[in-house]
Amino acid sequence: MVSRKTLSVLTALLVMGFISVLVILSMLGGVDNYTPTTDNPVVIFSDACARCHGERGLGGSAIGPRLAGVGESIDEVKKQVSEGHGRMPRFPNIRGRALQNLAAYVNELSIHAEETARQREP
Ligand code: HEC
Repeated sequence: MVSRKTLSVLTALLVMGFISVLVILSMLGGVDNYTPTTDNPVVIFSDACARCHGERGLGGSAIGPRLAGVGESIDEVKKQVSEGHGRMPRFPNIRGRALQNLAAYVNELSIHAEETARQREP
């Protein structure tokens, strides 16, 4: 026979476990089902990425870091978009040419921002 005390301890543990699962899930980015209607990376970025990373990846949101000047390689960007990471969702519907163009665009953003920053140096 299980005592009342054991039962309430078990219930408390169950509730705590449930709450931790919710907390962990809310920390992950999950899935974004945005589906591009074009291969144009400027449009895709502004529709799917800018709300977190800012227009042209310049930052400005509390959620996503600045991308311009970060120096992400094309493969790193592809991986980040397809798999997600941390609080960034994955985008399973951005693939093929759209993904390739987007990755090249984000990579370019980094390079151009670096060049611009260097030119501004005294
Ligand atoms: C819901 C907000 C959100 C959206 C939308 C979003 N990101 Fe992110 N992104 C993040 C966060 C948060 C991080 C940093 C998390 C981490 O990598 O641990 C990140 C990181 C990145 C990184 C890695 C940066 C680095 O310094 O390593 C790249 C590249 C990136 N995002 C590209 C994109 C692209 C391209 C899109 C559009 C398809 C996009 N993100 C949409 C939130 C977002």
